[in-house]
Amino acid sequence: MQRLEVLSRQLTAAQASEDRAPLLATRAEYDAMYRRSVEDPEGFWGEMASGYHWQEKFPARGHLQYNTDVRRGPVSVQFFRGGTTNISYNCLDRWVAAGRGDQTCFIWEGNEESDRRTVTYRQLLEEVSRLANWMQSVGVKKGDAVTIYLPMVVELPAAMLACARIGAVHSVVFGGFSADAVAQRILDCKGKVVLTATGVMRGAKPVLLKPIVDEAVALAAKQGFNVSSVLCLEVPGALPASRTPWNPARDVWWGDAIPKMSPVCPPVWLAAEDRSFLLYTSGSTGKPKGVVHTVGGYMIGAGVTCRYLFDMRPGDIFMNTADCGWITGHTYLAYGPLLCGVSVVMLGGVPTYPDGGRLWRMAERYKARTFYTAPTLLRSLLQLGDAWPRQSDLSSLRILGSVGEPINEHAWHWYHEVVGDSRCPIVDTWWQTETGSAMMAPLPAPWMNAKPGSAGLPFFGVCPVILDPATGNEIVSTAAEGVLALRGVWPSMARTLHGDHERFESVYFAPYKGYYFTGDGCRRDADGHYWITGRVDDVINVSGHRIGTAEVESALTEHADCAEAAVIGVEHGIKGQAIYAFVTLRGHDHQTEAMRKGLMDHVRKVIGPFAVPEVIHWAPALPKTRSGKIMRRVLRKIATGEEKELGDVSTLAEPGVVEMLIKLRGK
Ligand code: PRX
Repeated sequence: MQRLEVLSRQLTAAQASEDRAPLLATRAEYDAMYRRSVEDPEGFWGEMASGYHWQEKFPARGHLQYNTDVRRGPVSVQFFRGGTTNISYNCLDRWVAAGRGDQTCFIWEGNEESDRRTVTYRQLLEEVSRLANWMQSVGVKKGDAVTIYLPMVVELPAAMLACARIGAVHSVVFGGFSADAVAQRILDCKGKVVLTATGVMRGAKPVLLKPIVDEAVALAAKQGFNVSSVLCLEVPGALPASRTPWNPARDVWWGDAIPKMSPVCPPVWLAAEDRSFLLYTSGSTGKPKGVVHTVGGYMIGAGVTCRYLFDMRPGDIFMNTADCGWITGHTYLAYGPLLCGVSVVMLGGVPTYPDGGRLWRMAERYKARTFYTAPTLLRSLLQLGDAWPRQSDLSSLRILGSVGEPINEHAWHWYHEVVGDSRCPIVDTWWQTETGSAMMAPLPAPWMNAKPGSAGLPFFGVCPVILDPATGNEIVSTAAEGVLALRGVWPSMARTLHGDHERFESVYFAPYKGYYFTGDGCRRDADGHYWITGRVDDVINVSGHRIGTAEVESALTEHADCAEAAVIGVEHGIKGQAIYAFVTLRGHDHQTEAMRKGLMDHVRKVIGPFAVPEVIHWAPALPKTRSGKIMRRVLRKIATGEEKELGDVSTLAEPGVVEMLIKLRGK
């Protein structure tokens, strides 16, 4: 036994030492391809797309049509017009047909380290087909929305692929959202079918899901919308099937229904511009935005970025800590890696459970070549000490990825030196739910000279521009700082917001005419490398979760005792940003710990646990201008104790408010 282990370690080392030539071996190669991609996007993307299966081919010329300038008419983008395809076919059938059916598709570990499962490409194709057949049997058709509220089990990406197979539009709702938030999303997209699970253990904590779905469905019914079917997976641990609330007229056990379905389901061939999925994300108003992605363009964006940024090749082992409830889990866990034929390692539990070595043992166990995670998780792991990664043999790693927020230098160096043994390039991918796939990153090539904290260079077809926020003019010098916009179009960009094209145009295309406005601030250095400086709007990023301050404010003001609330993001050592709320109560004498808890519980109920403010700062009044606008700049300084740098407060309606708030800090 021991000898076998030694042998397997030697094999790992031998495999790891056979390094491959980088995909873009020289800077000149990247430059030439980049130039081509921006000068002739139609030709470039047409060629990129030809590596995928199209049932009907799109024409070489005339497949790309777009307008992103609101002055010229409605914003619209179409790629691969005339082509038909199916992403589930490209993710699954294509590999089975190529003789890779027995290759592992997903390697999953659950909450306990002993919960392990591997699924091959053929098995996943069968599971996806059964699910797709079941959905069709309950009346789901092309274009219908399906809500997916599942924990990180293999059935989650399978459910997404099953929707994609029949042209249903999935809306995955992160398992941390509350019943109110699930109901809001069901109502917005009118999803008649919900896929969920009994519940799940997260570390030592049970998280119940089916009762939340029941509540959400009841809330939707009150608003006049009836969900017709709920498919429920029994996940052992948190909530036994026997104690799961059940409505036999509506609810179906996954384990009863799905195995009875046929494992064969022909894919529905979809037009490139048909909808593939919706994903709700936060903006600067209280109402989440249903970002719409399409079939063809999204597929090419996901597949091509996986190929070039992570050098994914069939048979590689790719480990991603993202949850499918967010865009990273869509593009770089469910879809992109399968488009490249790799084996994906996923974790269904808490990354630091049972201890700080869990992820590193997984990387060793499955010989991960690439590891993709978020800075917030790196910061919590590095805090646990170097001994954890050092206890594992991480010699299989070749590329390390980062996403979701700017990575601070300390975390970058720890990732590079301790995790990657100074051997692995760090691919810090900047992108957004709306962009569908990574837009900028240091390429994993020796010539890149990646700088810690920089999102590197634009990906093919991406034209970042830095605009002067005051004038809206493009700053053309190489070294520049301002707001980040993107010129032109790329295949995986969002096409609209569900049910609100006007909001789509006004949020992204109206602020700076002719450009897509990202909402991020950015600096470009003298070498042309990009540095994201954070959001310039009222969106904050807490542990990689994107939250609109207005959403939290509206949840707080729904509380009967809250008269007014102002929410800001403050720097946080692990989470990146933390939610800091100033709250004005109706009647000042209720400023108690019980009230504070009541307000926090209310946010938990309306949005979910991840949106609960870290701090509630009592504010008998808020600093406002004479026209009634809350001065958030002033609140930020008060929250961080920098009141000496308040700046110009001459426009304050009541200057005494500032003093009062300073006195109440920490109370
Ligand atoms: O502010 C940027 C930040 O996350 C925002 C997008 O959030 P979301 O749509 O939830 O997607 C997150 C995963 C792609 C961006 O506007 N962001 C994302 N990646 C980075 C980043 N900031 C700096 N560096 C990154 N690599």
